[in-house]
Amino acid sequence: MSNIIEVRELKKYFGKGDKLVKAVDGISLDIREGEIFGLLGPNGAGKTTSLRMIIGLLKPDAGNITIMGGDPLKNGNKLKRKLGIIPQSVTFYEDLTVEENLSFLAKIYNIPRSITNERIDSLISRVGLEKKRKQLVRTLSGGLQRRLNLILGLIHDPTIILCDEPTPGLDPQSRVAVWEVIKELPNQGKTVILTTHFMEEADRLSDRVAIIDHGKILVLDTPKKLKSSIGEGDLVEFTLTEKTNLENLAQKLKTFEGIEDAYVSSGLIVIRSLDVVSRLSRVLGFIESHGSKVENMSIRSTSLEDVFINLTGRALRD
Ligand SMILES: Nc1ncnc2c1ncn2[C@@H]1O[C@H](COP(=O)(O)OP(=O)(O)OP(=O)(O)O)[C@@H](O)[C@H]1O
Ligand SMILES: [Mg+2]
Repeated sequence: MSNIIEVRELKKYFGKGDKLVKAVDGISLDIREGEIFGLLGPNGAGKTTSLRMIIGLLKPDAGNITIMGGDPLKNGNKLKRKLGIIPQSVTFYEDLTVEENLSFLAKIYNIPRSITNERIDSLISRVGLEKKRKQLVRTLSGGLQRRLNLILGLIHDPTIILCDEPTPGLDPQSRVAVWEVIKELPNQGKTVILTTHFMEEADRLSDRVAIIDHGKILVLDTPKKLKSSIGEGDLVEFTLTEKTNLENLAQKLKTFEGIEDAYVSSGLIVIRSLDVVSRLSRVLGFIESHGSKVENMSIRSTSLEDVFINLTGRALRD
């Protein structure tokens, strides 16, 4: 696969002196044609600033970007038709209907009428807005508005789709509807860059993920490899009735045979083990012998959140 976007040592700083913010601080990455590339990071990590530079909306302080073989700052107009930008904040005309918003935008792009109607039907059905197509957008729920926001970015059949946080605050149904549309895009020959601070979203949708924090890429790989990088096995989280000395308890559990790791996170004891079920009775017995009891327990697989915690010592969502 060839690279459709190449980013080298990209930098953007805002402010001065005490107020200097290194929003993007030396990011390099290659986006391969036909992949969904996830930029995962907490609020303020530099995701939107990176996207804005990639699409030529913001001039970098340093570094190089090549997008479809050209410089985004020089090829703005030619590039615009190839890019589908789905912004973090929704943009549409509230006093037009769903259908009118789409056909208005199609006119701006000069898309022939014969193509427009068919495309609008297809996009509307992809996000399940058929029954709402003649409704004024301001009367739609937030979830349905976001679904419209997504397909507005696809009306001109772009080659690269840049999706900035497509699902915050969405109801589960709308979230899944948005995910399904994004996931299908590579099958139509599209390349997608997705920014998100939801580890589950990055995990489910992305072929590769770059985890970014304070303007730097911490790691970049497939979700599977990132998760296995912190070690094999499943995680068990214990909530204890008696919270004294959790650290001490974790240290001791770490020495148990078959337990790969044990630590305290957000007031819970977490252990990682390959064959979790066979270790449980010993762990529970040990906790009780220390005068505490397990109030709640859950077993789960490692997530990208664990990868982030492992790298930074803090949670993705504060
Ligand atoms: N125009 C600007 N002027 C000053 N500071 C800015 C500007 N744009 C972004 N920043 C700062 O740069 C940093 C990165 O912001 P950015 O919007 O890229 O983060 P983000 O990863 O998209 O965060 P979020 O998840 O909240 O959308 C933040 O500290 C932000 O306050
Ligand atoms: Mg952002």
